[in-house]
Amino acid sequence: MAEPGHNSTPHLELINEGIDRIKWVDRHSPVLNGLVRKSVNDGSLKGVRIAVVVHLEAKTAFLASILADAGAEVIVAGSNPLTTNASVVEALRERGMTVVSEADGDISSWEQELLAAADHKPEYIIDDGAELTMRIGMHRPELFKTIKGVSEETTTGTARLYAMEAAGLLPFPALTANDARCKHLFDNRYGTGQTTMQAVLRLTNRRVAGANIAVIGYGYVGRGIAEYAKKMGAQVCVCETDPVRALEAHFDGMIVGKSVDVVCNASIVITATGGMRAIGQHEIDVLNHDVVLANAGHHDLEVDVATLADIADTITDKGSQITTYNVAGRDIHVLSGGALVNIAGGSGHPVEIMDLTFAVQGLGAHHLVNAQMQPGVHILPKHIDDSIAAAKLHSMGIQLDHPRPEQEDDFKEWLKGMQTT
Ligand SMILES: NC(=O)c1ccc[n+]([C@@H]2O[C@H](COP(=O)([O-])OP(=O)(O)OC[C@H]3O[C@@H](n4cnc5c(N)ncnc54)[C@H](O)[C@@H]3O)[C@@H](O)[C@H]2O)c1
Repeated sequence: MAEPGHNSTPHLELINEGIDRIKWVDRHSPVLNGLVRKSVNDGSLKGVRIAVVVHLEAKTAFLASILADAGAEVIVAGSNPLTTNASVVEALRERGMTVVSEADGDISSWEQELLAAADHKPEYIIDDGAELTMRIGMHRPELFKTIKGVSEETTTGTARLYAMEAAGLLPFPALTANDARCKHLFDNRYGTGQTTMQAVLRLTNRRVAGANIAVIGYGYVGRGIAEYAKKMGAQVCVCETDPVRALEAHFDGMIVGKSVDVVCNASIVITATGGMRAIGQHEIDVLNHDVVLANAGHHDLEVDVATLADIADTITDKGSQITTYNVAGRDIHVLSGGALVNIAGGSGHPVEIMDLTFAVQGLGAHHLVNAQMQPGVHILPKHIDDSIAAAKLHSMGIQLDHPRPEQEDDFKEWLKGMQTT
């Protein structure tokens, strides 16, 4: 929506659309605008080169802008070729930021974009899925000497960083933003739960009430999706390889079973494992005719689209983000090419939730710049995590009690706690 008076050439319209999208985020981001701006504007980010490699849409653009406003030299790249928004790219370029990604790219152009981001020699990386960090390790290992820190967004990227550390390949500190409570408790669960269901329904126009929906993986993301689907009236079946989480799903009222038993009755299957081929050949063999497959995990191959393409008799792609594979007479519909459906096929997380996630990332980057940290994987200090939640509550006018002296149990004086008379 261009404001009156905006020049209306197609390129300027695109820039103005991007600017408007970013303004919408600005309007709904009290923590980023308050606590984060105040903290990062202390001069410590002046001239620091930071690469921001997260799904390139308006909320990411707003985080990048806050870092740039604080004096950082920001390089922006998308973390998935299917989730980059053209108007946001142009709006960031208009304000003078280096953006190496284009919308509508494919895997090979995206690989080149990430290498281009690496060639700007970032000192710090705000990464998603460790996509840039891993590629630097693989293709520009000499740059590991100049990287001073990484702050990682996702569960999958965190697992990759721990694997690099175990292999002795992590010579700098890495913060796992995903492990901050203000990230995974809200973003992975409520953000992905709401927006995955929204995207699946918007793309397919299918019914939820009474439908059989299978969720593969019952971590924070899977739990959020299952909860939203259940509240919308679906019969939710869960497949989970971790026995404790499977038991938790059962206690939450989900039907739990093996993947082939769970997907064979489903009209919609949603993957949320963080791994690859959660829906592979075994599951494909038993899928219903007309089933919808959607992915909410980091890998585009959680649904094994490569195998589907190999075994399909026909593939129909009408450009509507629904690709239909006909396999032995059954139509199997894959949404958004198997990429994260809530971002590639939707608008990503609610802006209020990304206010928390990007507060973690912004303050995480500031912490990496200012604290003396050893190489290896670290968790964001609790006081920073707490300060984000406190700022969010404050922005909503919600007040908290602090424990009164008589409510505090002094564990150092353990005998005192035992006195009952
Ligand atoms: N779509 C989004 O916007 C979004 C947001 C946050 C996280 N993510 C991504 O979603 C994925 C899941 O994140 P999470 O925080 O829930 O992770 P998690 O580790 O808490 O949960 C994943 C669960 O999947 C289970 N699992 C693994 N392989 C399985 C298989 N083959 N079959 C059944 N269960 C299996 C694991 O045991 C685990 O309990 C990650 O890739 C993460 O990066 C996506």
